[in-house]
Amino acid sequence: MGKLWSGRFSENASSLLDEFNASLNFDKKLYQYDILGSMAHAKMLHQQGILTTQEYEDIVKGLEQVRQEIEAGEFVFDISDEDIHMAVEKRLTQIIGDAGKKLHTARSRNDQVALDFRLYVQAHNEMIRQLILRLIDALVSVAKEHSETMLPGMTHLQHAQPINFGYHMMAYASMLKRDFERFESSFKRNNLSPIGCAALAGTPHPIDRQLTAKTLGFDEPTLNCLDTVSDRDFALEMLFNIATMMMHISRLSEELIIWSSSEFGFVTLSDAYSTGSSIMPQKKNPDVPELLRGKTGRTYGNLISLLTVMKGLPLAYNKDMQEDKEGTFDSVETAEISLTILTEVIKTMHVNKERMEEACMIGHLSATDLADYLVEKCGIPFREAHFITGRAVALAEQKGCDLSELSAEALQGIDNRIGDDVTEYLSIRHSMNARSSEGGTSTQRTVEQIEKVSEWLKEKEATLEA
Ligand code: ARG
Repeated sequence: MGKLWSGRFSENASSLLDEFNASLNFDKKLYQYDILGSMAHAKMLHQQGILTTQEYEDIVKGLEQVRQEIEAGEFVFDISDEDIHMAVEKRLTQIIGDAGKKLHTARSRNDQVALDFRLYVQAHNEMIRQLILRLIDALVSVAKEHSETMLPGMTHLQHAQPINFGYHMMAYASMLKRDFERFESSFKRNNLSPIGCAALAGTPHPIDRQLTAKTLGFDEPTLNCLDTVSDRDFALEMLFNIATMMMHISRLSEELIIWSSSEFGFVTLSDAYSTGSSIMPQKKNPDVPELLRGKTGRTYGNLISLLTVMKGLPLAYNKDMQEDKEGTFDSVETAEISLTILTEVIKTMHVNKERMEEACMIGHLSATDLADYLVEKCGIPFREAHFITGRAVALAEQKGCDLSELSAEALQGIDNRIGDDVTEYLSIRHSMNARSSEGGTSTQRTVEQIEKVSEWLKEKEATLEA
């Protein structure tokens, strides 16, 4: 059998054209969506009296067989078929004969590819949301255990104020919660059916797009067919959502890398998720977070690639758009494995509480507390308080201790308005717990954040399962 579109051609396609033009090597990933879409289309054609019952039943049976052949690895993918749409249709016609040739009534590959690709993106949107929930759940579990474990909070990677490790984990849980919500909103916005748009202008056949939309789990058909066959926003949103989520994952990875260094020693990554060196026997390397950080780059690239492919295209379909798939598949696969492995890394890492708390004794973390104390308890204007605190820090430096270790007496030597109760204010734990404003780091506020996110998690897990 020649090409399905060979009618107006008198010469055969060159094999070089086949190689350059074909998408089959990568779009075969879409086979299940192509078959699902064809079944829904056939069902509608039958209901509208365009296919007889016999033809419809043959098509469904034939498509089932194609699916089985592909899944059993028996299907012969021939690149001269160009893409998965034509490969499936050709095989269907080989199996069931003439009825197979009727399947493409009121359909074009333009709405077919828009449908298959959208079904793929929607299915993986759900999968990615499931995986995000699992990662958030892992972060929340660590947070629950460590809402009293103090570590130096940083700005400019310099010790700034004491926070607790649970609070730090909840910062990432919050980012991932927003990521989830971005995927969720993209899913809702794009849950519209492209099928029935045909080449670009709709079709004269009496089709029922509401029926195909419903059969395929879409909320309704898209509004305008010209837009629908030209639109890849749904894939761009997916790519943007993944890129942003990977940026968050990359930042967490960066912290895991820093924290697991000998200099920090805040966490120890499990052996199961660490690697060794081929030459230095003592080494244990954080390859997983490094790769997560590294792979983030390709997800940005995929987003920029597709934006660039789309930017100059006149309506409607142009072959440039075949370039939409590989980058999207790559980002989706990168996102899914990244979420999965990071969840395991978080679940299995060991938090070195003592090292974190030791580090809190470096850098005079409660300096802001002394200034606040001078303002609140002694009525000293903030600028002056800032200066007095600076003197206290200099004294601690001179004595080789942390500010929190200075005695009340020593501090009173700097300013006699300072009371005996100052010591309590300078303790690192007091400092951490003093930041008790809404969304702050105090253990109580951290627990509040954990509770809110846990409740949200339960709600989302239930809706995704339903
Ligand atoms: N393989 C094509 C793609 O992935 C399918 C659509 C082809 N449509 C067309 N009119 N050539 O974009």
